[in-house]
Amino acid sequence: MQFTEEFFDAGLYRVDTDSVKWDECRRAHGEGALPMWVADMDFPSPPAVTEALLKRAAHPTYGYTELTERHNAALAAFWRDRHGLSFAGEAVTLLPCVISGLKTAIHTLTAPGDSVVIMSPVYGPFRFSVEATGRTLADAPLKKDAAGRYTMDLDAVEARLREGARLVLLCSPHNPVGRAWTREELEELMAVCGRYGAYVCSDEIHADFVFSPQRFVPLLSVQKERVVSLCAPSKTFNLAGLQIASAVCVDEALRAAFRKTLEANGVTSGNLMGLVAAEAAYNEGRGWLDALLRYLDRNRAALREEVRAQLPRAVLTPLEATYLGWLDLTACGLTCRELTERTEKAGVIFTEGTFFGEEAGEGHMRINIACPRRNIPEAVRRLKTALEQGG
Ligand SMILES: Cc1ncc(COP(=O)(O)O)c(C=O)c1O
Repeated sequence: MQFTEEFFDAGLYRVDTDSVKWDECRRAHGEGALPMWVADMDFPSPPAVTEALLKRAAHPTYGYTELTERHNAALAAFWRDRHGLSFAGEAVTLLPCVISGLKTAIHTLTAPGDSVVIMSPVYGPFRFSVEATGRTLADAPLKKDAAGRYTMDLDAVEARLREGARLVLLCSPHNPVGRAWTREELEELMAVCGRYGAYVCSDEIHADFVFSPQRFVPLLSVQKERVVSLCAPSKTFNLAGLQIASAVCVDEALRAAFRKTLEANGVTSGNLMGLVAAEAAYNEGRGWLDALLRYLDRNRAALREEVRAQLPRAVLTPLEATYLGWLDLTACGLTCRELTERTEKAGVIFTEGTFFGEEAGEGHMRINIACPRRNIPEAVRRLKTALEQGG
């Protein structure tokens, strides 16, 4: 099958598929609302995934399975070929989702009341996971330049470690600010962590969405000790509903401790359909993924162009990675709540900046561009209308 521009332009009709992104949006905002929020894609998954699922489902036995080793080998081969990182299948621990991996790392490496470092603005469940486990947030907000590009504030990270934090939750690539951290940046972060013996849990769920000339640098290629990396086929191949993710950990003591926590919480295996889908995706979805990345790269250009033409007061953070644009609308003088009221009325749904940090995200909106390209000018036009016409 050819994965042409037309394949992605055609998109996917997702209404009445129990899609959070589409069905919840319709219920709350009506038929015409355009959902540009939840981070999944309005494109079909690779046909090889659907074929593998149908084939497996056709055999009416869904008992305990021994697919884990094959899955882990497929995952390792995919990471070796696409990201130049080699690890053995034994380094992989299956998880139901990436956020369960973040929480497992927190439970394993800290005690109630300990502080955990995050760098806001960052995907909300980083903050929620720290709070839900009874730990204390130690925020080291990212720094931002006039062009809207973000960098880590390593002085702030070091200050949090000096105050006692021993675990850093890293988002790499970073959602929502679209950074692909460079090797130098990651080395500097690890040098700071090394001074305090701190651990890093690196959420690498967006690893496959890095646009040339940037490259994704796995944290495990910088350092293996005191690092656990979380990855999944869910963003890459649009499989979030199948609930499958992995923790890759080469540090044996850390891996054993991480697995002990998982076991104590009753998580002991992956699910059959998730494993089948992931294996097919890693082995046979690569052509689809290359074509998707070319399409998303043009969506990225389309978003830049529309924002430049229609929203002169907005600052669009340079999108090096992920399919999530980060728009600074603070020049409009509106809070996220006010922005949301207006955009909902104008028929377009974004993710509020404050989901990523009460302070660091205020006045910002995140826009998901993993959709047929025609939706991008339309979403920006509706945002422009919302800003001009008011509530
Ligand atoms: C950085 C990041 N981590 C984790 C997740 C969620 O992953 P999961 O559904 O596997 O918990 C997302 C989803 O948007 C994300 O952007």
